[in-house]
Amino acid sequence: MTIRFTLNGRPVALDTDPGRRAVDILREDLGALSVKEGCGTGECGACSVLLDGELKLSCLLLAAQLEGREVVTCEGLGDQDAPHALQVAFAEHGAVQCGFCTPGMVLAAESLLRENPDPDREDVRRGLSGNLCRCTGYVKIVDAVQAAARERRGGRRKK
Ligand code: FES
Ligand code: FES
Repeated sequence: MTIRFTLNGRPVALDTDPGRRAVDILREDLGALSVKEGCGTGECGACSVLLDGELKLSCLLLAAQLEGREVVTCEGLGDQDAPHALQVAFAEHGAVQCGFCTPGMVLAAESLLRENPDPDREDVRRGLSGNLCRCTGYVKIVDAVQAAARERRGGRRKK
């Protein structure tokens, strides 16, 4: 079956089994390697993507569910030449250690900031509660999200 959708702004037409998991299609067929598979069972958030702007776990989505939708991964937010404010803030605040959770965290944070441009620390913790990190202790991640939020609101980035 041919599945058609948009990945990071580019149209995709993929001949594949509609029962395959979205995480596998995105990584293996389309090279979106920022999408990580941690648990594979909907517990860790590493495989998060934005589907029509909503945060979703791609290990729980099937290929057929991508049909006609708009998928955004961390690659679609920014790259090394033009990084997104959240990507810069994570790097600047030391919110990345092994980095495995980071793309999912960044997408969860992006989803949060679209809903709530001025989250307090508790709002950020709640917004990222579906994303597990085994390295950082979360403090620097929360700092990074708040810094990116400030920058987005036009404030100065606090180092
Ligand atoms: S790999 Fe999808 S939630 Fe863990
Ligand atoms: S930085 Fe390693 S899991 Fe979060």
